[in-house]
Amino acid sequence: MTATPPATPSRGTDRRVPRKGRTRERDRGPALDSRAQIITRRLSKTYGSLVAVDNLNLEINAGEIFGLLGQNGAGKTTTILMLLGLTEPSAGGARVAGFDPTRKPLEVKRRVGYLPDNVGFYDGMTGRENLRYTARLNGLSGREAETRIAEVLEQVGMSGRADGRVETYSRGMLQRLGIADALVKDPSVLILDEPTTAIDPLGVIEILDMLRALVRDRGLAVMLSSHLLAQVQSVCDRVGIFAAGRLIGVGTVTELAEQFGEDTTRIEVGFEGLQPPDYASTAKALASVPGVSGVQQPARSGDPFVVLSGSRAATGTLREALLATAVRDGLRLSSIREIVPSLDDIYRHALNAQGSEARQEVPA
Ligand SMILES: Nc1ncnc2c1ncn2[C@@H]1O[C@H](COP(=O)(O)OP(=O)(O)OP(=O)(O)O)[C@@H](O)[C@H]1O
Ligand SMILES: [Mg+2]
Repeated sequence: MTATPPATPSRGTDRRVPRKGRTRERDRGPALDSRAQIITRRLSKTYGSLVAVDNLNLEINAGEIFGLLGQNGAGKTTTILMLLGLTEPSAGGARVAGFDPTRKPLEVKRRVGYLPDNVGFYDGMTGRENLRYTARLNGLSGREAETRIAEVLEQVGMSGRADGRVETYSRGMLQRLGIADALVKDPSVLILDEPTTAIDPLGVIEILDMLRALVRDRGLAVMLSSHLLAQVQSVCDRVGIFAAGRLIGVGTVTELAEQFGEDTTRIEVGFEGLQPPDYASTAKALASVPGVSGVQQPARSGDPFVVLSGSRAATGTLREALLATAVRDGLRLSSIREIVPSLDDIYRHALNAQGSEARQEVPA
């Protein structure tokens, strides 16, 4: 097998009627010069009675990494397959790199680098030979192709193993080669389905750094799907939280924290040279600061205090008040910073907020 797309799933449920003419099509979304490289409007896919993707409205811009976050079966891969024209929507539509993937799948394919979740290559060929094959399919050959291939192999850390046969590669090496394969055509959009599941932790940092550099230097739009929260948090500019086919939250991690996080602000406050016998009086002083609803003392000597506040809005005022209290009491402040809730917390809260509505099925 080569880096061919996965088999197109059943089209039996497709109810989409092709539109006539370009005018109608343009009416549907933003103008073509919009920065949005991926746009979906009420994009939906049903398999029999199962709603795999439910009225998805998304915009992903050039120069940003967007993370589609969701549990197994949430609809991430189905969304991606529709964006690539590999499966047809049951309703709604999309525009990727300026084209409708249902009507112009080849135009989309030319501009979009895609890493499938089940990446496959010709086993008997080397990594470099597989990339040559992809390059040729995309109209690249000769010196130009060789230079480009060497460059992407270097980017994914596979230069040293590029001339070994693919059948001897580990899963992580295959995934790295898959990312190189998606980059060969110098795409303007990169869609990566679970790009790092098989890559070791240090490798993940390298790959994510590489993605950030690509976005920064070349203004790519990147969409990646993942169920690895920490990874999404570290690399994505914006995140969409996906549950049972529905986008239940979208924004930066901070915005999602405001929407779904607890209503409590947590501020870490560290003091220099403070000894455990002084902890109780310091906690009392911190607790007396207006707006503070609770204080957690350090579990270990040298750790910071954690100050809790019921209001998220007045963080700036609270910091100033804490600072003033430290000065008044002759405490030497070493650090003061707000603790941003983890994406895990946000995801759990978002799912809870969604509650029993999460799994919605249409009548057969
Ligand atoms: N070809 C198909 N026929 C029927 N149902 C399908 C088909 N493809 C996907 N589904 C169903 O659609 C839902 C969404 O699946 P999808 O593969 O998009 O999830 P995912 O978010 O990518 O999950 P994972 O994290 O496991 O990769 C699931 O309930 C799945 O069983
Ligand atoms: Mg998937």
